[in-house]
Amino acid sequence: MPRKIAAGNWKMNGTRAALTQLEGIAATHADCDVLVCPPFTLIGPAVDTAQNRVMIGAQDCHTQTNGAHTGDVSAAMVKDLGASHVIVGHSERRSDHGETNEMVMAKAQAVLTAGMVPVICVGETLTEREAGETLAVVETQVAGSVPHDATVVIAYEPVWAIGTGLTPTIDQIAQVHDALRAQVIAMIPGGDIPLLYGGSVKATNATEIFAVGNVNGALVGGASLKADDFAPIIAALSAS
Ligand code: 13P
Repeated sequence: MPRKIAAGNWKMNGTRAALTQLEGIAATHADCDVLVCPPFTLIGPAVDTAQNRVMIGAQDCHTQTNGAHTGDVSAAMVKDLGASHVIVGHSERRSDHGETNEMVMAKAQAVLTAGMVPVICVGETLTEREAGETLAVVETQVAGSVPHDATVVIAYEPVWAIGTGLTPTIDQIAQVHDALRAQVIAMIPGGDIPLLYGGSVKATNATEIFAVGNVNGALVGGASLKADDFAPIIAALSAS
């Protein structure tokens, strides 16, 4: 069985005051892996606060280790702070920064080279879903942006479900995750990598989502910012 992971993506939220929420998350009992990805500015303090009770990750990195890239941050730099994971290819990076599958692949490879785990995000837009292209879009993104490495994590995040309160039906989540599992088994020896669902996961829908075969956890945005919201999601995954 793949590892179960409750992952929080804090996006561009949080100053040092948010470390009290991380303390609450770290104090939560978990029978699963827990990962929190704060903004770059909080990674060092978050590693200190977490004290290895939860894992800390970044939300992006550059493809290169160092060099003349003003404002960018490399995988080696966040590894040096104690990060274990880096989210790459989030839909907000793909849309806000024009990241292509090739760029996401290069970032994922940089994360692996630095000795960390890339959490690679894929997912269709509403237009693509309505055109019946969901599986084709996701398959193309996985083929183009996921290295053939048994340590990677994939997060399926339908773009239209992110931050909207909308979620696919359980059958729709199952359909994509089953297709993802088949694809990764063919791509990666063993194929036993965690497949996370992301997009409006909250305490009220976590249990039914975690009951779906081939869902091995969640990548949570808004509901990971407060310990009181994230703790029940961690509990639901632990009980699944
Ligand atoms: P929400 O949980 O806020 O919908 O965000 C999901 C997400 O984008 C996690 O990476």
